[in-house]
Amino acid sequence: MNVLVTGGAGLIGSSLCRRLLERGDSVVCVDDFSLGTPRHVQDLKKEKGFRLEKRDVAKPGWHKGLKGPFELVVHLAANSDISTGRKKPEMDLERTLLTTFETLQAARALRARGFAFASSSAVYGYEPVFPTPESAPRLHPVSVYGAGKLASEAYISAFVENYGLNAWVYRFGNVVGRRLTHGAIYDFVAKLRRDPSKLEVLGDGRQRKTYIDVEDCVSGILHGVAKSPAGKTHAERFQVFNLSTDGATSVREIAEEAARVLTGGKARIQYGESPIGWVGDVPRTSLDVAKLKALGWAPKLDSLSAVRKSVADYAEWSK
Ligand SMILES: NC(=O)c1ccc[n+]([C@@H]2O[C@H](COP(=O)([O-])OP(=O)(O)OC[C@H]3O[C@@H](n4cnc5c(N)ncnc54)[C@H](O)[C@@H]3O)[C@@H](O)[C@H]2O)c1
Repeated sequence: MNVLVTGGAGLIGSSLCRRLLERGDSVVCVDDFSLGTPRHVQDLKKEKGFRLEKRDVAKPGWHKGLKGPFELVVHLAANSDISTGRKKPEMDLERTLLTTFETLQAARALRARGFAFASSSAVYGYEPVFPTPESAPRLHPVSVYGAGKLASEAYISAFVENYGLNAWVYRFGNVVGRRLTHGAIYDFVAKLRRDPSKLEVLGDGRQRKTYIDVEDCVSGILHGVAKSPAGKTHAERFQVFNLSTDGATSVREIAEEAARVLTGGKARIQYGESPIGWVGDVPRTSLDVAKLKALGWAPKLDSLSAVRKSVADYAEWSK
């Protein structure tokens, strides 16, 4: 299979490119290295079926010079750091929404058949139904990032109807692993390296969210595409899946694990008072993943094991 991966040098993209090459696919990996780095895919450069392209996929015509057809485009490029959206709302307009629009245009021009998209639990906002199913009635994001993801989903839905694409939309929980570029584990490790005596946590630490290991996330994406082929109706050609583990992990558990691994538990952890880390954050996420599980997929690691593995792996990787 010929696969085009945008954001391929990021956390999820670098694991996805590896997995695709292992199963014999050809991969064009596109990234502007704004968050990811060439180091994340350095070892793949020697692989015959791998091509790395530095391009900004928010720019019209970014695909010029690439040759289709591609069986699958996996669009992962975005501003993945939710908290920056409040300071710079134009960031998510450009990097989270425009990248999707221009990658849809690229998919048309490159005669792609399938389009898989990295959406997020952030589209649910303050969702009172836990665990939240894909059919949750309130899709009211409270972060600019979540708005960019939901608007992206809407554009994909329309491109499916108008231009014959088949789409798989995945609403991820928090994805963690070795090659992190953002998030709580990334921040805690950086803070503890700067000052091993203390760790300041945004919020009261009781925020409880669902985490998934990046390798399980990648198998979920590929499993959904393989086991839920496109049908004839719009609903069969635009499919939405939650993708995470069943459980959840608190920010306290993550902070304690980071302090344990980096300082042997010596760092004093200081919590804030707010139930959220920043405006646009939500205190709880819990996703109903029964739809993808019904297709035979299951994560290997639970939420807390995924967090523990990521703290250890990222601490070593970022030394
Ligand atoms: N990691 C998570 O917890 C999580 C949760 C929900 C959704 N997602 C989504 O999954 C996708 C991948 O996330 P990730 O954790 O691997 O993030 P990441 O930051 O590690 O990867 C995103 C990649 O996109 C690249 N990129 C950003 N803007 C670009 C542009 N204009 N042109 C080309 N490349 C660009 C970055 O350099 C980076 O390598 C993102 O769309 C993210 O929003 C991630």
